[in-house]
Amino acid sequence: MLQLINFPHPTLRFQSKPIIRVDASLREMIGQMFDIMYENRGVGLAANQVNLPLRLFIANPTGEKGNGEELVFLNPVIRRSTGSTESEEGCLSLPGIHAAVKRNKSLHVKAYSMEGREIDMQVDGFLARIIQHEIDHLDGVLFIDRVSPETQRVLLDELSGFVSTHDSKQRQGMIPSDEQLSEQREEWLNRYCR
Ligand code: NI
Repeated sequence: MLQLINFPHPTLRFQSKPIIRVDASLREMIGQMFDIMYENRGVGLAANQVNLPLRLFIANPTGEKGNGEELVFLNPVIRRSTGSTESEEGCLSLPGIHAAVKRNKSLHVKAYSMEGREIDMQVDGFLARIIQHEIDHLDGVLFIDRVSPETQRVLLDELSGFVSTHDSKQRQGMIPSDEQLSEQREEWLNRYCR
């Protein structure tokens, strides 16, 4: 059963690896990712937010199950991005934290679907913001890395709260040790990326 992980879990800083095979259990995990995203009222979720070190993310800009389109992007790459726009963002791995983030207004994204079909989309607006946020995740980047230094100072206390929660959960064994986590990631990489 997949579980949402929070900052500063080390898999959120992992550079996710391209997927070379898709099997029934990966498809099943993608289904679980949608459940987790809807339960937490998100509009996008990257695989490393459920501790999978794989280059894949899901999105549904409506955030509602049964509404809008469920998008799955495997091995996404942004080709061209233009314009600049600033808007408030949050992240399921940083619950309660919101801040203004500058992003490109529109972009061209290439990826693969679960069925291996090529995705080639020109995107703008909210979906373009989601795609940039999620691809950042796959590169180990969080939206708090992209806010102004003033905002980072404002967020300092809240972020250190996340760090103490993580450390105490790890001490209590509720989160595996960094070494165990790295072994888990290796297993996923052997299964889907090598
Ligand atoms: Ni996020």
